[in-house]
Amino acid sequence: MPVERAAVIGAGTMGAEIAQVIAEQGIPVKLKDVSQEFLERGMRHVEAILRRRVERGRLTDEEAAAQLARIEPTLGYEDLADVDFVIEAVPERLALKQAVFGDLNRACKPEAILATNTSSLSVGALAAASGRPSHVVGFHFFNPASVMKLIEVVVTPETSEETTGATIAFGRQIGKLPVRVEECPGFLVNRILFAGMAEGMRYQHENRASVASVDAAMRNKAGVPMGPFQLADLVGLDVTDEIGKILETAYGDRFSTPPTLGELVAQGKLGQKSGEGYYRKDGTTIELGSNEADGDLLVQQVMGACFLEALRCLDEGVATANDIDLAMQAGAGWPVGPIAWAEQIGLSRLSAMLGALAVKVGPRFTPPARFKALADSGGALR
Ligand code: 3HC
Repeated sequence: MPVERAAVIGAGTMGAEIAQVIAEQGIPVKLKDVSQEFLERGMRHVEAILRRRVERGRLTDEEAAAQLARIEPTLGYEDLADVDFVIEAVPERLALKQAVFGDLNRACKPEAILATNTSSLSVGALAAASGRPSHVVGFHFFNPASVMKLIEVVVTPETSEETTGATIAFGRQIGKLPVRVEECPGFLVNRILFAGMAEGMRYQHENRASVASVDAAMRNKAGVPMGPFQLADLVGLDVTDEIGKILETAYGDRFSTPPTLGELVAQGKLGQKSGEGYYRKDGTTIELGSNEADGDLLVQQVMGACFLEALRCLDEGVATANDIDLAMQAGAGWPVGPIAWAEQIGLSRLSAMLGALAVKVGPRFTPPARFKALADSGGALR
């Protein structure tokens, strides 16, 4: 059954953009927050997106007005009694989100699906606080949510197959590309993307390379839309730092970043949302080094780190090889996913390349024994 009424909890940038995505597909959506001020800010964000689209000739004034009218701001949970699908997008604090899931359980009809847009907290822990764990699922959007096609449908051992199926169907209903991911810290895309982002930042730090040359080399030589510093500025340096720490705690040093990230956060320089991060408003960067990045080596390190993380996800059963590639293309705009990237190079050549990086850069690049054996025997990853 298609979703007829939806709700989003939290009218921040993400919440507001998610409401816009739903309204765009003709579905009425309630946007709930705790103050009129937050609601008005969220609605202004939606208006700005729609205005830009009208200016670019993508939408008519009437279509924009109709989309906006489908979003109903509200302060009360009592308004959510008839919704079929709820997406929680409040700040990333476990106790706050758990309280929201308790409130949603009381407010929503028993068959309603309660989803979370969390990027770093345990979906299972939220499910446990919901009173209806079989109806709880992750529904993780990517920045900018109004543009990126991917939604990670994060499934816990408690999530019912019915909930998973209905969530994937809703993802398609709102024009996105839902990909099933078995829950693990960082889920799928952030694990792979942040492994590369951390590697790119370490490359800059260790080689005293300029921020702009690192980003440019990643764009020009790897073909990705953004280098690690642009990406961090887009996601928000506070969010990047927070997710990075969660990944480092869960998986170890391969997710550690140089001190500049934390220092910028402490200075309130949070990237695009605060007007300055690694980049300033005028497009110049902060000065962390002046050397030109060796693009070939940088790409080998960053893509190598991403591939090794993708391989771990594959081995752990987090997602299939096809879904890993699809997710990196739809969630991060990559031209090809990490498994296809490995196949293009050839597994045997890649295994040798990783072995050489392990000697030159560090043992984190040592190809896992199973991959080496597969590559040596001419085997395939899918
Ligand atoms: N916020 C909102 N919309 C934005 C935006 C922003 N910061 N930046 C660009 N856009 C919109 C534009 O308005 C335009 O919208 P329209 O098609 O409706 O007119 C559209 O994006 C395309 O913009 P441009 O024409 O300027 O195109 P670009 O080619 O420069 O693409 C991009 C911009 C889509 C952001 C592209 O650079 C990209 O794909 N970057 C990679 C983004 C990425 O990796 N996201 C994932 C981050 S990780 C994450 O979010 C997970 C979370 O848990 C932290």
